[in-house]
Amino acid sequence: MITRDPEVAAAALAAGQLVALPTETVYGLGADATNATALARLYAVKGRPLDHPSIVHVADRDAACSGWSSVWPAAAETLAQAFWPGPLTVILPAGSRAHAAALGGTGTVALRVPALPLARAVIRHANTGIAAPSANRFGKVSPTTAQHVLEDLGESVDVILDGGPCSIGVESTIVDLTGDQPRVLRLGAITIAMIEQALQTPVTGASRDAPRAPGTLATHYAPRLPVSLVDSLAQAYQRDLSGVALIAHGPTDVEHGAIALFDPGATQALYAERLYALLRAADATEAIAIVVVLPSPGGLGDAIRDRLQRAAATTLGSGSIS
Ligand code: TXA
Ligand code: MG
Repeated sequence: MITRDPEVAAAALAAGQLVALPTETVYGLGADATNATALARLYAVKGRPLDHPSIVHVADRDAACSGWSSVWPAAAETLAQAFWPGPLTVILPAGSRAHAAALGGTGTVALRVPALPLARAVIRHANTGIAAPSANRFGKVSPTTAQHVLEDLGESVDVILDGGPCSIGVESTIVDLTGDQPRVLRLGAITIAMIEQALQTPVTGASRDAPRAPGTLATHYAPRLPVSLVDSLAQAYQRDLSGVALIAHGPTDVEHGAIALFDPGATQALYAERLYALLRAADATEAIAIVVVLPSPGGLGDAIRDRLQRAAATTLGSGSIS
């Protein structure tokens, strides 16, 4: 069932059902984070390994520090004040409220207060934390519209709350606060520089080679077709693009044999917003491969490049999803 009513979605969550809910980043597949049965179904529907923790979404900062984590360090307070509601997830030692099934046996909990008012309305009405991984099948491209969720998960989701297209388009930045030093596990719209500025301390960055959180695998965010990446349109045109779907912004009047052309827009924000929809659209063409012109590094560009590098690593077979 598709609805626009947050109270319908909240009632379904309270009844132990699975609800796809929009956020400003991507759509999540939500279940009550205290309900073991609902969580078991969530993992089965998503095809996600049970040792893979889910983000627990809460309504506000006060809810975040009401038993979901066992401690609320100064760094969490600073980041909450600076970036919540918004696309930032903090990892803390787990409190007693989240069921172990939501935490993948980590003993830690990932907490986020989404910015989209509709998402917070659902969480407030449900009066619990909502465990919600991205509402795609494990390893695949995240959904940024209700239609994407329907295509990926169909009838296995009880309720899809349609909040329109996601405004940011890439998943939240994840900061691990359980170690000696804050560590960014996944890049998103909140950059490392923004976090360092807020905390007034150096932060370890996400590196593709560093050991990472379960699920921030090198191989993820993968379309069906092989993906290859280039740094510029000129570089793309040096290739044989016949049969290729090209994702590129610029004077793409000369198509060099590409059979489909998708424009991610002139800014990093537009690129992020459109990224997953364009990968899906490219994937649905008759093309034999997808060639993507990367956005410039820095800011949101780093998060986009990160996701595209994982998409490319996966489909080229240089890694595996465990
Ligand atoms: O923007 C987002 O973060 C979206 C929306 C729905 O909030 N959610 C999302 O969830 O992207 P998911 O499950 O697709 O990605 C969350 C990542 C996973 O890589 C997971 O392994 C990691 O966060 N994670 C969750 N809990 C963790 C924990 N306790 N310790 C380490 N990593 C954790
Ligand atoms: Mg995901």
